[in-house]
Amino acid sequence: MSKEQPTLFPELVPFQAQPPEESYVSFVPGVKPEEAFLEIDTLDELIGRMVECKRCGLRAGCRQVVVADGDPEADLMLVGEGPGQDEDEQGLPFVGRAGQLLDRILQAASLRRDEVYITNVVKCRPPGNRLPNPGEVAACRGYLDAQIRLIKPKILVCLGLLATRTIIDEQAAMGRTRGKWFTRQGISIIATYHPAALLRRQEYKRPTWEDFKSIRDRYQNLRRGE
Ligand code: URA
Repeated sequence: MSKEQPTLFPELVPFQAQPPEESYVSFVPGVKPEEAFLEIDTLDELIGRMVECKRCGLRAGCRQVVVADGDPEADLMLVGEGPGQDEDEQGLPFVGRAGQLLDRILQAASLRRDEVYITNVVKCRPPGNRLPNPGEVAACRGYLDAQIRLIKPKILVCLGLLATRTIIDEQAAMGRTRGKWFTRQGISIIATYHPAALLRRQEYKRPTWEDFKSIRDRYQNLRRGE
């Protein structure tokens, strides 16, 4: 006689452990879990990694890695394109002409530069201030994703087309996308013109100011707990 027990539920197959599903969903589109520095849980450690980064050719042509400026506890984060010559020299984002204009816009919107967090899509200056190319953006966007994960801003402002395409939608056009609020992973996101564009195009000033009034209002409501 067979010693095998009759199977009560022959339709049930034995449980087999599945390999864990990768559950990390990046904030910045296109960042794979293995590119998101998930093993890093402090900003200091992340800065250390950025400073020694040689993932693309930009590091060889710049003086220093420009990580960020402002309050790491900020509720409001601004993301520009990449460092220019002044930023490369001083090691801080938005300190040249465009940066001075950004400071004035922030001030007009009742925001202090030291209460927000400012960074760029790429952390190294592209030679001759050219636009970072797609490979350079792809090499750097994991750092931006990790900055957002660690800073946990409540409001994120994309300054200009590169930040808008990197964060909101790679097909975005400024005219269509700016001034609208989006929400992703509980963070309110808005795009506006880059301050450098305002230096060239007077007609961008008014819509940019409208955008910053909206940013100011949302930020103040947030601070009041609304
Ligand atoms: N433009 C940017 O996008 N970032 C800077 O830091 C300076 C100018």
